Amino acid sequence: MNHKQSSRLLGALLLGLGLCAAAQAAPAADATPMRKSIELPVSTRVFPGDSAGAKAANSYCLMCHSYGMVETQPTLSKAAWLVEVGKMKNAFKAPIPQDQVQVIADYIAQLKGAH
Ligand code: HEC
Repeated sequence: MNHKQSSRLLGALLLGLGLCAAAQAAPAADATPMRKSIELPVSTRVFPGDSAGAKAANSYCLMCHSYGMVETQPTLSKAAWLVEVGKMKNAFKAPIPQDQVQVIADYIAQLKGAH
């Protein structure tokens, strides 16, 4: 082993030692999840009207969202609301009966287009 090789080896050893020391010095990850109780604001607003769409939206959207959350969404076409409501059912497991998906999508599109 020539001088260059041995100093490279020494460098590698020192680097290794340094990494070990750094790993040991790192604080152990705290495995205790933070727990906090918070109070969410309660909204009593509902989808307006007594059409089938309003009833279905009140039954199947308000269990996870406030009315205001849906009301403040951008105005979308019926087709886009159909995709959105389908996403709630399929991706987020909203228990929306299949025959209510279109009913809700049409209702929300019309509700939001109305202003
Ligand atoms: C089981 C709970 C649940 C139900 C019921 C539900 N959603 Fe959602 N919704 C979610 C989740 C989770 C998200 C994603 C939130 C996030 O990204 O932070 C979401 C997001 C949204 C968004 C934001 C855009 C997006 O795609 O992320 C809209 C609009 C929305 N929901 C509308 C509705 C409507 C309308 C209904 C009723 C048909 C509904 N949701 C029912 C869980 C639900």
